[in-house]
Amino acid sequence: MTGTVLVTYGSTNGSTAQIAGSIAEVLRKDGLMVEVVPARSVDSVAPYEAVVAGAGLYAGRWQKDARRFLRRHRRALAERPLWLFSSGPLDASASERDIPPVPGVKRAMVALDARDHVTLGGCLEEGAKGWVARMILRNGKGGDFRDFAAIETWAARVADEMRHM
Ligand SMILES: Cc1cc2nc3c(=O)[nH]c(=O)nc-3n(C[C@H](O)[C@H](O)[C@H](O)COP(=O)(O)O)c2cc1C
Repeated sequence: MTGTVLVTYGSTNGSTAQIAGSIAEVLRKDGLMVEVVPARSVDSVAPYEAVVAGAGLYAGRWQKDARRFLRRHRRALAERPLWLFSSGPLDASASERDIPPVPGVKRAMVALDARDHVTLGGCLEEGAKGWVARMILRNGKGGDFRDFAAIETWAARVADEMRHM
């Protein structure tokens, strides 16, 4: 692979943005050229040779910027190698077992012929937007369940697959 990789994300409260940053760092260390762009700011996928896209999960769906990104760029995405990640569970489950994609993401994987998907632990902390978020936090169900070792392991595998393209 000689072109640039797009790492893009939909994130309401910022934690998925940091995951995207970690993924990009691993790809760069592997010698790949990488741009990290929020999903709502991607005008075109044409400049990129491969795409890694992810989002925080909200009520069983990807965050809306990322959903729109997949819809808007579906033709170009279907023509490029594509990897997907979801970030959500506010417990250790994602570190303990493989969690399948939510139905909408599963459909996108099939339609766009994505190479892989991973569900990663999420994060919800004080200051998160919305009353549901505040309720979760009030009930003591928040916390940072991001597993950066797991993120890096997955990103290293993606880098390896890109290198062998
Ligand atoms: C209103 C709300 C709904 C959520 N729904 C889900 C869900 O359906 N599945 C899940 O695994 N996590 C869910 N979460 C947890 C978020 O996915 C998690 O906090 C994620 O890290 C948020 O990403 P962001 O900080 O990039 O926005 C929900 C969180 C909130 C506040």
